[in-house]
Amino acid sequence: MKRLLAFAVAASISVTSVADEDQVEYRQEVMSAIGGTMGAIGKILKQEVDRPGDIAPLAAALDELADTAQRVFPEGSDGGDALPEIWEEPEDFAERLTVLKEATSKFRTAASSGDMAQIGPAVGEVGRACRGCHQRFRE
Ligand code: HEC
Repeated sequence: MKRLLAFAVAASISVTSVADEDQVEYRQEVMSAIGGTMGAIGKILKQEVDRPGDIAPLAAALDELADTAQRVFPEGSDGGDALPEIWEEPEDFAERLTVLKEATSKFRTAASSGDMAQIGPAVGEVGRACRGCHQRFRE
C-alpha cells in the first residue's frame, strides 16, 4: 500500500512538472514568434530589405499574436525567464499586456494605411510596450 501510494505521488509530481515545462516552452515559442515578427518588420523599416508590402500583413500577425500572448501566462506556469512577480502582481502584469494589445492594434491600423509618418511612431510604441514589460517581469 505504501509503495503504491509513493508511486502515485511520484507519478503525479512528474506529470505536473512535465506539463509545466510544456507551458513554459509554449510561452517561449509564442514570444519568439512575436520577436521574429518584430525583427522582420525592423528589417523592412531600416530598409535592409525592400519589402514595404509585407509591413501590413506582419503588423496584422503581430496584433493577432498579442491576443495569444494574453493566454500564455496561466497560474502555475512560472519558469523560464518569467519572474514570479507576474503572478504576485497580476493587475500590473495584465495592464502591460493591455498596453501591448493597444499598441499592436494601433500599429496594425497605421500599417494598413501605408503612411510611413504613422507607421514609424506606431511601431515605436509597440517596442516600448515590449521593453516596459521585459524590464519589470522578465529575467
Ligand atoms: C506583458 C509582458 C510582456 C510583453 C508586453 C512582451 N513580453 Fe516578451 N517576454 C515576456 C516574458 C515574461 C518573457 C519570458 C518568458 C519565459 O521565459 O517563459 C518574454 C520573452 C520574450 C522572448 C524570448 C522568448 C524565448 O524563446 O525565450 C522574446 C523574443 C520576446 N519576449 C519578445 C517580445 C516582443 C518583441 C514584444 C513586443 C512586441 C514582447 N516580447 C512583449 C513578457 C512580455
